[in-house]
Amino acid sequence: MTFRLRDATPADLAAITEIYRDSVLNGTASYEIAPPDQTEMAGRFQAIRDKGYPYITAEDDDGTLLGYAYASAFRTRPAYRWLVEDSIYLAPEARGKGVGKALLKELLIRCEALGFRQMAAVIGGASPASVAVHKSLGFEMTGTMKGTGFKHGKWLDTVFMQIALGDGTNTAPDPATYPGSLFSE
Ligand SMILES: CC(C)(COP(=O)(O)OP(=O)(O)OC[C@H]1O[C@@H](n2cnc3c(N)ncnc32)[C@H](O)[C@@H]1OP(=O)(O)O)[C@@H](O)C(=O)NCCC(=O)NCCS
Repeated sequence: MTFRLRDATPADLAAITEIYRDSVLNGTASYEIAPPDQTEMAGRFQAIRDKGYPYITAEDDDGTLLGYAYASAFRTRPAYRWLVEDSIYLAPEARGKGVGKALLKELLIRCEALGFRQMAAVIGGASPASVAVHKSLGFEMTGTMKGTGFKHGKWLDTVFMQIALGDGTNTAPDPATYPGSLFSE
């Protein structure tokens, strides 16, 4: 399958909303129960872009959106600001063809270039596909929280994975290099 990666734009929000809707209704990656509508997804998209985090898409040769990925704050207290969390969602028919790995690889490159030092994956339902895509790019398991969610009639574990970016913890970060708009708290 050939596809290309590019920055997401507001014109992608209908397709992004539909892709996320399927994951919310049928999967455990997201712990949301009711799918957000396009207005809500537009607000979330804008909030991520306003802080300068990358939000990217993969599309096929016909321009059909196959999936999207973005980075966002892991938690909003300022000492966490060198750590980002990734999110990736693909349309069901686009899975298992290398699209998720390509999106995550691009996200890693962009977040490292921005100066972040760590990326975390918070994997709802301990999804084997999500664990596999992160492992394939060098993420390591850092822990499992048991029974953190209840969805589709069963208790869900959450797996945490992590990878260092750039200098990681080898050097102290230079606050002067932090893109100031990325963190508002
Ligand atoms: C998880 C997801 C992003 C993975 O993307 P993908 O395009 O399907 O995965 P890829 O085809 O890029 O595969 C990447 C690696 O994972 C492996 N993999 C993919 N699906 C797998 C599965 N179901 N079980 C085991 N391994 C799997 C591939 O073999 C590949 O390994 P390799 O690089 O060593 O050859 C995608 O399946 C998806 O959107 N799932 C629903 C939403 C979700 O779970 N999002 C993650 C939120 S943290």
